[in-house]
Amino acid sequence: MSEIIKKFAEKGFLISPTLVPKITDHTKFLDFLETNFKNKISVVTEEIYKNFVSGCLTFTKNNKDVKIVKEREVKQDGSKVEITKIYEHENKKRDISDWVGYYNSRFEQIKNFLYHRIELQGAISINRLISRDMKELATIAMVKSISKSKFGNFIIELEDTTGVIKGVVSKNSPCIQKVEELVEDEVIGVLGSKSREMIFIQDIIFPDIPEKETKKCNEEVYACFIADTHVGSKMFLSSAFDRFLKWLNLELGDEKQKEIAKKIRYLFVVGDLVDGVGIYPEQENELLIKDIYQQYEEFAKLIQRVPERISVIISPGNHDALRIAEPQHALYDDIAKPVYQLPNVIMTSNPSYVRIHAIDDFPGFDVLLYHGYSLDYFVANVPKLRRYGYERADLLMKFLLRKRHLAPTHGSTLFAPMQNDFLVIDKVPDIFATAHIHKARVGCYRNVINICCSCWQDRTVFQERVGHVPEPGRVPIFNLKTREVKMMRFI
Ligand SMILES: [Fe+2]
Ligand SMILES: [Fe+2]
Repeated sequence: MSEIIKKFAEKGFLISPTLVPKITDHTKFLDFLETNFKNKISVVTEEIYKNFVSGCLTFTKNNKDVKIVKEREVKQDGSKVEITKIYEHENKKRDISDWVGYYNSRFEQIKNFLYHRIELQGAISINRLISRDMKELATIAMVKSISKSKFGNFIIELEDTTGVIKGVVSKNSPCIQKVEELVEDEVIGVLGSKSREMIFIQDIIFPDIPEKETKKCNEEVYACFIADTHVGSKMFLSSAFDRFLKWLNLELGDEKQKEIAKKIRYLFVVGDLVDGVGIYPEQENELLIKDIYQQYEEFAKLIQRVPERISVIISPGNHDALRIAEPQHALYDDIAKPVYQLPNVIMTSNPSYVRIHAIDDFPGFDVLLYHGYSLDYFVANVPKLRRYGYERADLLMKFLLRKRHLAPTHGSTLFAPMQNDFLVIDKVPDIFATAHIHKARVGCYRNVINICCSCWQDRTVFQERVGHVPEPGRVPIFNLKTREVKMMRFI
């Protein structure tokens, strides 16, 4: 063993004695390290070895503003995938400082977006507002609470790291519509005046996204988006999925449809790969496959039929076998081993950023993947969204982009607190892809293409009970050359 450790050390890599017995081919692994990590790292972790086994090139770099960011790059024939932001598993006991760090990080990140707005460049902190009356003021704060007075005005409690203050929005104010989409814990800009301990809010400014540039690729290449396969469920629509796979293999469809299938280079699978086990009460009655390992085996058998020319990018969802709290790291490589073994599969976290097709002079399309667990909360709790329900997933996605956060309210999803808030939308993507609500929708907001994936699971008892009607078997297909999204139906 010491010989092997020495061999690695001579090349500048420190390797732990516990890792050595796990390495099956030392020469190949050393080649891999030299190609990808020479002068970048000195300590070789188990995770690097796992990535070597799963066929992903990985390196870690420190981003001074945020956190450790990982990139993976897999080049295949005519395609390229880079994971530009991935959440890594942190096996750490959480304490109160993580929550404080988490919210401070959210506040600081989003405050920086707001500071760029002309109206907010003179924004002052709450402690500087408290002691004086002001005819005009601008501040940036987190929404602590929202309530309605008996006169129909809204009282917004605002908080920053220096203090708390109440603001009032008159029921006749032009910004009353913005209150309809205001949620607790989001970070906003406020313009108004102050007297008698209260801010009179004249306008609310959401962090929002700037207009994204219109990228178009010279090549006619396609990316398609699926999610919520729920393999293992009795409701899994195997025939519809079989038709989808046959189409990818040019065995189904008319000539035009086959032409498109030929040009697909990327397939995104945005969570809920399997139905899981013990996800909700009495789930076992609705399971065809009751073993989680077998569920992933079955899923892998299906994905194995995706032609190798297509890179399959997979992120988890709330039904997958890992913690439900977000962010969720990539699937465990032991539980989902058969999936990891597929040569064209690239695993990533929920959420994550993935860049596709940055080939030659084209900068590539940045895709933000988020399974969408928080969508249920906002449909139910935001008046402006409630009136459309699940029918307008595009509006839900626009709502999150405007907040620059994937789950702005505490309680809209389960959070895993950490020193940085990973759910902040810190980079504006070209495509925002989500799922979870089992309905396919496509929209565009400020040039960001919003794609909500369909599902491959028939209506469940739970969905019947709550009156939810899923729309399974649809696949949005994005043309990288024209930016058009075509909706294919397999049911
Ligand atoms: Fe689902
Ligand atoms: Fe889900």
